[in-house]
Amino acid sequence: MDHFLYRDGVLHAEDVPLAEIAAAVGTPFYVYSSATLTRHYKLFDEALSPLDHLVCYAMKANSNQAVLKLMASLGAGVDVVSGGEYARAKAAGFPGERIVFSGVGKTVAEMEMALEGGIRQFNLESEPEMRQLSEVAQRLGKTVPVTVRVNPDVDAKTHEKIATGKSENKFGIPIAKAREVYSEIAALPGLEAIGIDVHIGSQLTDLQPFEDAYRMVADLTHTLRADGHDIRRLDLGGGLGIPYERSNTAPPLPVEFGELVKRTVGDLGCEIEIEPGRLIAGNAGLLVSEVIYVKEGDGRNFLILDAAMNDLIRPAMYGAYHDILPVIEPAAGAELHPIDVVGPVCESGDTFTKQRKLPPIEAGGLVAFRSAGAYGAVMSSEYNTRPLIPEVLVHEHQFAVIRARPSYEEIINRDTIPAWLEG
Ligand code: LLP
Repeated sequence: MDHFLYRDGVLHAEDVPLAEIAAAVGTPFYVYSSATLTRHYKLFDEALSPLDHLVCYAMKANSNQAVLKLMASLGAGVDVVSGGEYARAKAAGFPGERIVFSGVGKTVAEMEMALEGGIRQFNLESEPEMRQLSEVAQRLGKTVPVTVRVNPDVDAKTHEKIATGKSENKFGIPIAKAREVYSEIAALPGLEAIGIDVHIGSQLTDLQPFEDAYRMVADLTHTLRADGHDIRRLDLGGGLGIPYERSNTAPPLPVEFGELVKRTVGDLGCEIEIEPGRLIAGNAGLLVSEVIYVKEGDGRNFLILDAAMNDLIRPAMYGAYHDILPVIEPAAGAELHPIDVVGPVCESGDTFTKQRKLPPIEAGGLVAFRSAGAYGAVMSSEYNTRPLIPEVLVHEHQFAVIRARPSYEEIINRDTIPAWLEG
């Protein structure tokens, strides 16, 4: 459930008509619902109760400071994968003990930053990284809690670009090597292995791959404990999928995921962490765009929008489906016609969808892409010198711009001309 509904014939975000936001900030823009973000966080939090747990929001999905501030105020932890994300977490008020550092290639500078600023744990992804962290921690006179991300060689049955749990993927260490790696950690100064981490992919719509992976983690917990390691925390990653296409069967709910966690690892006495991103932010956001032209082509028609692939790259990059709704509610029984929905960028890849059946929409009309709150704004760029679009947060009847659209001048002034080209 989200908080984007038609009321009096106009699509609203909570109590605010989208047309009102469009008039105030211009199109295109992203809009997020505080109530939906809050609800999604709470669904996970409740699903894991009464286990000792922490929901660590994966900020890569949507790292706007206002969204982070909201998550921090709810008591969430946060999963970061770069120095930039770590800085965002601190700026939003997350204490170090609620920040988890994931990612395949942490640099020395990133390690130093987190060790100095405080960190709940590092999730290690390779042996060279583990040795590097040991060296840095030792130099700074710290002992840092770590988990090792194990790669269980499980097929997550999702899009190949976002599957991470097969042995051919770059992530984690092979689970069969775990004993060896944990015994090396025990011998390394500056590191304390406190748990195990696993994350097999994103947009999973079937619970079986999670079940397979978590059972392997449970077995590994017993093995490592028998080897003398004090395994007391399990980070089970993120990845639960969301319904992109309302007409399809919905993926499993957080409550079902919670039952699975309890069934597979609930009796180990470990503190449980999860790192959801998409499920918290995805359906809490829309991308709103204006139709610039309706073009009649040779055998097919095009809805040309003022939003493009640089604003929402998921369709171009993953062939992703996003529901498209007219902001003005179509008349009951309005006829649907197939149309290609495209942006103005100069490549054919700038196509949001082909032959989508939509009610008639005229130039000047507004459309909203659903499920755009995760991996939308964060993956956008200024390709074609199209300014990053504003982000707006709604709270009941209030809305606020939480990232403003830069002016052309601001964009141009970010570049500098070398002395030899001046004058
Ligand atoms: N933890 C780790 C270590 C991750 O790599 C990810 C996502 C998450 C948690 C959060 O997963 P989620 O709950 O959001 O599925 N750009 C792609 C998605 C990339 C996901 C990368 N890792 C997309 O637009 O579909």
